[in-house]
Amino acid sequence: MARSRTTSPASGHAPASKRPADKGAASKTSKGWLKEHFDDPYVQRSWQDGYRSRASYKLLELDDKDRLFRAGMTVVDLGAAPGGWSQVAAEKVGAEGVVIASDLLEMDALAGVDFIQGDFTEDEILDAILAALGERPVDLVMSDMAPNMSGMAAIDQPQAMYLVELALDLAGQTLRPGGTFLAKVFQGEGFDEYLKTLRQRFTRVVTRKPGASRARSREVYLLAQGFRG
Ligand SMILES: C[S@@+](CC[C@H](N)C(=O)[O-])C[C@H]1O[C@@H](n2cnc3c(N)ncnc32)[C@H](O)[C@@H]1O
Repeated sequence: MARSRTTSPASGHAPASKRPADKGAASKTSKGWLKEHFDDPYVQRSWQDGYRSRASYKLLELDDKDRLFRAGMTVVDLGAAPGGWSQVAAEKVGAEGVVIASDLLEMDALAGVDFIQGDFTEDEILDAILAALGERPVDLVMSDMAPNMSGMAAIDQPQAMYLVELALDLAGQTLRPGGTFLAKVFQGEGFDEYLKTLRQRFTRVVTRKPGASRARSREVYLLAQGFRG
């Protein structure tokens, strides 16, 4: 069952647990997409460095700038597959740390990462994440979730906002006071209200656009530090 948020909806959109058919699938397999992918310097670096996705470099850049990680931290990684962020998180928190990762898709096992597969909009997946955490307060909740894009803003934007609103709900339930929340958010309807909500709940909120985030994408990363509890 899709769950409703505990925060007031920033965007006023209906829950959207069902994702539209991937109308971009044909174009994604086109020669143009493949060429862009293989020519991408971040993709090439990820092969050399052993990272599962180019997304790792976004998180590494954010960590360089904003010092997200410390050894021993407890981290929740939402929208984790194929695992680029989880790899970085597991390396950074080390053997004393905990990384709980979740995604709709399967993800190959990673040392130091506890993975829960399923739709984050479903109650049972939230419950499974909470059960994996037990009583442990969380230092960092991060969401790189993105719905399959139809190309129609009226469909895509509400779905994307719904996912980050649920991610913020989880952060509100699990973060220790002073903890950090990082989320990929798409600029569009609901963005400004979401940012306002973050500013109420955290002492410092900044917008980041890492080098590995494609310039044409409306995605930005909102980093909220100092959870007020
Ligand atoms: C950009 S990818 C994440 C890349 C990942 N951070 C990495 O470093 O490899 C976005 C992910 O969000 C996931 N996602 C989208 N909707 C979701 C949902 N409702 N529940 C769980 N995961 C979801 C997708 O399956 C996809 O794997």
